[in-house]
Amino acid sequence: MSFPTDRPRRLRRTETLRRLVRETHLTPADFIQPLFVVPGTNVKTEISSMPGQFHWSVDRVAEMAERCFRAGVPGVILFGVPTHKDEVGSAAYDDSAEVQSAVRAIKKAVPELLVITDVCLCEYTSHGHCGVIEHNEVANDSTLELLARTAVSHARAGADIIAPSDMMDGRIAAIRAALDQNGYAYLPILSYAVKYASAYYGPFRVAVDSAPQFGDRRGYQMDPANANEALREVELDLAEGADMLMVKPGIAYLDILHTIKEKYRRPTAAYHVSGEYAMIEAAAQNGWVDRKRIILETLLSFKRAGADFVLTYYAAEAAEWLLEESRHAR
Ligand code: PBG
Ligand code: ZN
Repeated sequence: MSFPTDRPRRLRRTETLRRLVRETHLTPADFIQPLFVVPGTNVKTEISSMPGQFHWSVDRVAEMAERCFRAGVPGVILFGVPTHKDEVGSAAYDDSAEVQSAVRAIKKAVPELLVITDVCLCEYTSHGHCGVIEHNEVANDSTLELLARTAVSHARAGADIIAPSDMMDGRIAAIRAALDQNGYAYLPILSYAVKYASAYYGPFRVAVDSAPQFGDRRGYQMDPANANEALREVELDLAEGADMLMVKPGIAYLDILHTIKEKYRRPTAAYHVSGEYAMIEAAAQNGWVDRKRIILETLLSFKRAGADFVLTYYAAEAAEWLLEESRHAR
C-alpha cells in the first residue's frame, strides 16, 4: 500500500485520535527525584549551577520528599555534602552523616516513598575521586571495602534501594556480599552499570563540590566512544547480582539505553543528568525554548528508547503537570 491510499495524517487530525494511537505514555511513576542533603538546620538554598534545585538540610528535606509523594513520584535518590572531607571519604560510611540522617527523616515522614541512596566516595573525599588514592591512582580493590561499608550504613539507616555510581570493578559483588552478610539480602541494587566519563556532570559537581582535585574520572568511568563495552559492563553487573540497571547520562546515550533494554530485558533506568537539566534551564531562561514542552518531550524520549524509569531533576514538577493534565482529560 502506498499514497494515495496510505495517509498517516488520518490518525493525526485531532487530539482524540492522536491520544488513541499514542505509543508511549508518561506517568508520575516513571520518575525518581534526586535530592541534595547538606549540613546545618533550616537550609533550603538554591544551587547556583542548577537553578530550581536546592540544597536541603536534614530537618527540611522531608518537605521535598512529601511533595514528590503527593505528586505520585515513587522515590527519591539522595546525595550528600558532608561537613568534612578526608582522604578516605569517612563521612560516606558514617551512620550519623547527612545522607543517613536524611534517609531516617524521609522514611519517618513518608514511609511509602522509596529512598534510594547513591553509593560513591567522591562527595566525601578531599581529592574528589570516587575511590581511595594509592600511588597517585584510584585504587580499585581497597575502594570496594569502603563502598560496601557505605552501602551497609545506608541500609542500616533504612534505604530501600542501593545505587552504586563509583564504577570500580567488582563493586556490585562486594556490595551484594556485604548487604547479605549484614541481614539485608532483600535490598535491591540499582547499578549505575553504564556510566560514561561525561562533561554533562559539571553542574552536579558544583552542587556537591566533588570535582577531582587532580586528573579526571576517565580511569574508571567509561569512554563516551564505546558501545560494546557497555554490554560488558552490564553482563558483569548482572553476574555480580545487580537487580536493576542504569545508563548515564541520558539524551546523548539513548542508543545505549535502547540496546541494553532490548538485549537484557531488565528493569533499566536512564539518568537525565545535571548538565542536561542546566542546558534546558539556560535556554528556557533566555526564552529560546518552550520549557514545559521541551521537558516533557525529553522525558518521553527516555521512555520511548526503553527506560522503565528516569532519574530526573524534573521529577516532582513533571509529575505535577501530568497529574494536573489527567484531572482535566475528558
Ligand atoms: C557520583 C555521581 C555523579 C553523578 C551521580 N553520582 C557525579 C560524577 O560521577 O562525577 C552525576 C549526576 C548528575 O550530573 O546529575 N559519582
Ligand atoms: Zn563518584
